[in-house]
Amino acid sequence: MTQIAVLAGDGIGQEITTQAARVLQAVAPDLTLVEAPVGGAAYDLHGHPLPQETLDLAQQSAAILFGAVGDWKYDNLPRELRPEQAILGLRKAMGLFANFRPAILYPQLAQASSLKPEIVSGLDILIIRELTGDIYFGQPRGVRVVEEGPFAGDKQGFDTMLYAETEIRRIAKVAFEAAQKRNKKLCSVDKANVLETSQLWRDIMIEVAKDYPDVELSHMYVDNAAMQLVRAPKAFDVIVTGNIFGDILSDEAAMLTGSIGMLPSASLNASNQGLYEPSHGSAPDIAGQNKANPLATILSAAMLLRYSLGREAQALQVEQAVATVLEQGLRTADIYSEGTQLVGTSEMGDAVLNALG
Ligand code: NAI
Ligand code: MG
Repeated sequence: MTQIAVLAGDGIGQEITTQAARVLQAVAPDLTLVEAPVGGAAYDLHGHPLPQETLDLAQQSAAILFGAVGDWKYDNLPRELRPEQAILGLRKAMGLFANFRPAILYPQLAQASSLKPEIVSGLDILIIRELTGDIYFGQPRGVRVVEEGPFAGDKQGFDTMLYAETEIRRIAKVAFEAAQKRNKKLCSVDKANVLETSQLWRDIMIEVAKDYPDVELSHMYVDNAAMQLVRAPKAFDVIVTGNIFGDILSDEAAMLTGSIGMLPSASLNASNQGLYEPSHGSAPDIAGQNKANPLATILSAAMLLRYSLGREAQALQVEQAVATVLEQGLRTADIYSEGTQLVGTSEMGDAVLNALG
């Protein structure tokens, strides 16, 4: 029995995961989906955004289908009880170190991007961001007083960029394997001309590449990568990079598509357990109105089938169904344009189910 934890969360979380769970169950009837509360919803019920029972369920499952967490009404809670802590807690407890952020722009939606259609139409790239190391977590960090030099006496903030060989090697392996499943092209992004951390990163990438002779590895400095993503994003296929560069580049790539309601994501650990969620948040402004676009969550379910369960055919079946409903002209409000047909969250879910074939 393969168990999937379904954690809907807050805001539009329930509406979008309901549709994604229907689709998942339709293509893979053998899966057992088990729901549990998370985020603000869990705080309301149990006084904690990630109750032990929810964490246990997640850890015992092959993968997690996650909606979104957060709402303004929890803004005054202490940090450790805020809804977002649930995601951090799951990442930490499950060792989810590899963040997959695809940027896909279906040709039918090319006008949603602010870039020229010939630059972005049909875009399909995957950014893999290391999620647990780098300057965000390196010690020491803090604020100190400068002792000498031109800034003596000033307060000075400092952080430390760190990457251990093992951390680089494990994200490299995940990235080469993902590239093997796609077009066998991997671009490693760093700043090796300036940073020691990046030089080690590059050395290890080159070393790991020897185990994947069928994948073509290239390297790019992060400043250049930021430019090339806007100039010619389709020249990339899979990008692998560290935590801080990946944070920025993955958001940049998301914006190339102009449709936040369409972008899935995944965070994986060494045993391919993963948390699958849309890239957007809980959208409290449209919650409970049957307006949210469920496609990012449905596409996250496709990633779940591909990366945690190794079910490529079922993943493609879901992705093809999404392409079909867009081809039919169905649109939720966030991707609506003149001449297309406006539908709600549940109608979009119905249409994807019908298109599964
Ligand atoms: P957001 O992504 O929730 O919303 C930004 C805008 O996009 C809103 O106008 C919203 O209506 C729209 N939008 C988002 N998803 C949509 C969808 N599926 N269909 C149609 N429209 C959609 O980001 P925002 O407003 O900054 O944050 C709202 C809450 O979500 C906050 O509490 C924030 O902390 C939380 N959040 C949670 C995340 C997560 O659970 N991983 C990630 C980002 C934010
Ligand atoms: Mg970010």
